[in-house]
Amino acid sequence: MKWVTFISLLFLFSSAYSMGSKCSNSGIECDSSGTCINPSNWCDGVSHCPGGEDENRCVRLYGPNFILQVYSSQRKSWHPVCQDDWNENYGRAACRDMGYKNNFYSSQGIVDDSGSTSFMKLNTSAGNVDIYKKLYHSDACSSKAVVSLRCIACGVNLNDDDDKIVGGESALPGAWPWQVSLHVQNVHVCGGSIITPEWIVTAAHCVEKPLNNPWHWTAFAGILRQSFMFYGAGYQVEKVISHPNYDSKTKNNDIALMKLQKPLTFNDLVKPVCLPNPGMMLQPEQLCWISGWGATEEKGKTSEVLNAAKVLLIETQRCNSRYVYDNLITPAMICAGFLQGNVDSCQGDAGGPLVCSKNNIWWLIGDTSWGSGCAKAYRPGVYGNVMVFTDWIYRQMRADGDDDDKSGHHHHHHHH
Ligand code: ARG
Repeated sequence: MKWVTFISLLFLFSSAYSMGSKCSNSGIECDSSGTCINPSNWCDGVSHCPGGEDENRCVRLYGPNFILQVYSSQRKSWHPVCQDDWNENYGRAACRDMGYKNNFYSSQGIVDDSGSTSFMKLNTSAGNVDIYKKLYHSDACSSKAVVSLRCIACGVNLNDDDDKIVGGESALPGAWPWQVSLHVQNVHVCGGSIITPEWIVTAAHCVEKPLNNPWHWTAFAGILRQSFMFYGAGYQVEKVISHPNYDSKTKNNDIALMKLQKPLTFNDLVKPVCLPNPGMMLQPEQLCWISGWGATEEKGKTSEVLNAAKVLLIETQRCNSRYVYDNLITPAMICAGFLQGNVDSCQGDAGGPLVCSKNNIWWLIGDTSWGSGCAKAYRPGVYGNVMVFTDWIYRQMRADGDDDDKSGHHHHHHHH
């Protein structure tokens, strides 16, 4: 049962609806293919667009406070959910619909600071129906609070000793608990970041053929030294999903997901990082951190210990200037480092995290992708821009298991 079904009701009341330019008022354009679909099929629980975006964009978390928002196809905008009559069971359902399956952390009402004048509210007299059907538009919200929803306890660490590390230094235990080392035949090849007990974000260029086969890979979590990563302590990978639009020449869309065979157990040393929400409002030149077992100098060998370094985000416009990367930076990339050089990621760091702290939470802003040399002046590190991939990531987590019959749930494959 999808709580998104409610949204389709909104369409029944909307007239002369149009969204993209192509589909006039009789349909909505799928952004991956340009196909037009009937408005009543948008958010109805069955995917019609080839990329599934008709079902993926109905609920989202917004901004650094995880405000739950529901898309109103009628008003063509996102609205926060009023805390009145909300309870945790609804939160659980929303997390499940976003792709978190069995995860749910907390749901609370917080003061709405977004200036919203229109809310989605629960109609409690609607009886025992799907919560999407209970939501309606309202300009009033008596609790004056909106739902803030956390699906997983993410982005918390220990020991990130902020002013001790200059230009890269070995990491303290628990400082970067989402960092994993990804091995092929007992050798560290790439980094990755834990986002749920089962899912790791890494770079697509790490898993190019023939390494797209999951049995090559073992992930190590919560271990700082490579020499302590013996086979039995690792987690086997069950599935590798590379971004379908990854371009190995330009490194555009350099992101991939790995699903582990067994879920990780979280503790002080092993914890997930938060995926960024839209509306994060980071400073254009915010201080962030990179970490990994990559080489500590250009052409050097990978490091025995995990290192971390502070870097600055660099605006794309600057990074694209002819003195830097001369228009090689696409919207799916983000630059970080220093134009004077000296601090950077390097070979072996790929796939690992670029994290930024906001509201005392660490967010996965980038995955290490490429650079020309390492730590050279005017050649900063380039990272996959995770913000533009979050829809894709949630969609993969959501779709996982839909195409096998292991779970024993109902499937819609066998229409005769
Ligand atoms: N492509 C490298 C790897 O596979 C990552 C390089 C990052 N380079 C840089 N200068 N920041 O490990």
